[in-house]
Amino acid sequence: MKKIKLGAHPYIYPMPTVIVGTLVNNSPTFLTISYIGIVQHSPPMVSVTSVSGHFTNCGIKACGTFSINIPNTKMLNITDFVGMNSGHSIEKAAMFNVFYGELENAPMISETPLNLECKLIQTINLNNGTEIFIGEIIQTYSSKKYVRRGYPYMKRLDPILFSINSNSYYNVGRRIGWAWKAGLKINAAKYKKPK
Ligand SMILES: Cc1cc2nc3c(=O)[nH]c(=O)nc-3n(C[C@H](O)[C@H](O)[C@H](O)COP(=O)(O)O)c2cc1C
Repeated sequence: MKKIKLGAHPYIYPMPTVIVGTLVNNSPTFLTISYIGIVQHSPPMVSVTSVSGHFTNCGIKACGTFSINIPNTKMLNITDFVGMNSGHSIEKAAMFNVFYGELENAPMISETPLNLECKLIQTINLNNGTEIFIGEIIQTYSSKKYVRRGYPYMKRLDPILFSINSNSYYNVGRRIGWAWKAGLKINAAKYKKPK
């Protein structure tokens, strides 16, 4: 199949959509983030990439903590709003019921199905206006209705997916297979390297 070049872009589809929280001057504040990644499984670490001028950034650096709140599709409008308006001029925390966990200074959103409480481990400054916050997850919080066999259940979480260039949000479709099982249907012997 002939491929066409689309240019150099970070096209990793779909993108997650989360709401990151921190304290600025002792008051909770939140912003929407899609440039978020899992750094490693154990100890569990995540990365949050945020433009340095954002109101939230100074709070994360001052507190040394932040939260990641995973909204569901019912929270689409509020999630978009939090990503359109800055804490420099809008009291975004007033839209949520805020709670605190073990760290006591990482504000989390009661209304989101899942909350990750993070301790800032490292800040990488790319010197081009971008800051990357690496956080270790200290605790995660959910409600019973979103959990099955002790784990968050994707279907019940109903997270928001993001497509950056079409400025669109999507939801998650149905399960299409089992991990570490679907690959067993391919005959590995056929692709075995010669010794
Ligand atoms: C869907 C969506 C995803 C976003 N992802 C990011 C992101 O990954 N990094 C970033 O710096 N800004 C991102 N933004 C923009 C910020 O959320 C936005 O500029 C926000 O108003 C900054 O808030 P603050 O100044 O209160 O920190 C995103 C916005 C939306 C709507």
